[in-house]
Amino acid sequence: MSALKILVIPGSLRSGSHNARLAAAASYQFAQAGAEVTRISLSDFPLPIYDGDLQSKSGVPKHAINLKRMMSAHHGVLIVTPEYNSSVPPLVKNTIDWVSRVQDVHETRYQVFRGRPFAIAAASESRLGGTRCLAALRLILSACQATVIPNQLALSFAGEAYDDMDRLKHPADIEALGAMVRQLIDVSQRMM
Ligand SMILES: Cc1cc2nc3c(=O)[nH]c(=O)nc-3n(C[C@H](O)[C@H](O)[C@H](O)COP(=O)(O)O)c2cc1C
Repeated sequence: MSALKILVIPGSLRSGSHNARLAAAASYQFAQAGAEVTRISLSDFPLPIYDGDLQSKSGVPKHAINLKRMMSAHHGVLIVTPEYNSSVPPLVKNTIDWVSRVQDVHETRYQVFRGRPFAIAAASESRLGGTRCLAALRLILSACQATVIPNQLALSFAGEAYDDMDRLKHPADIEALGAMVRQLIDVSQRMM
């Protein structure tokens, strides 16, 4: 069997992003579990705000096509997103919206979302840790017909969540991350 490939997508471009840091911690756990991990930055896939006229005139932008193909080349996807005003940031929503418009030849609509499981995580300095944004993201991905695994991680008080070695230090966070990583690997293997 070929190596299990996991794509990790941080939903923030900010330098010092809590979510990019959590994405790095999750990537390490996936690699420890034997998966081949690709961690991207959405700064390498810049996209205009979705506009139907733009799509009609110029088609789907190449960065959306490239990202969709990158997703297709992986067996599972983790999205690690900030929470903005109790929901999903425009960067993440806009990226999903564009990718959902990509349909390669002989593919059915949403095939890239149906073909592999998704995991979702959030990091925030608040006590709720981005829980509300995860509910919104789960709904969006479900609308794209994705399987979103039940285990998720909402990392509270993200600024104080790590030790000097950049590892999560609270047992509940470590357990939640480990459970999510194990479940995404398990479901990805079953959907391969
Ligand atoms: C427009 C905006 C709205 C925000 N709304 C929320 C919110 O509803 N809940 C929350 O926990 N944090 C909220 N925050 C704080 C972000 O979670 C915080 O800036 C976080 O560090 C962003 O993620 P990053 O560190 O990965 O860039 C908001 C920040 C911005 C800029």
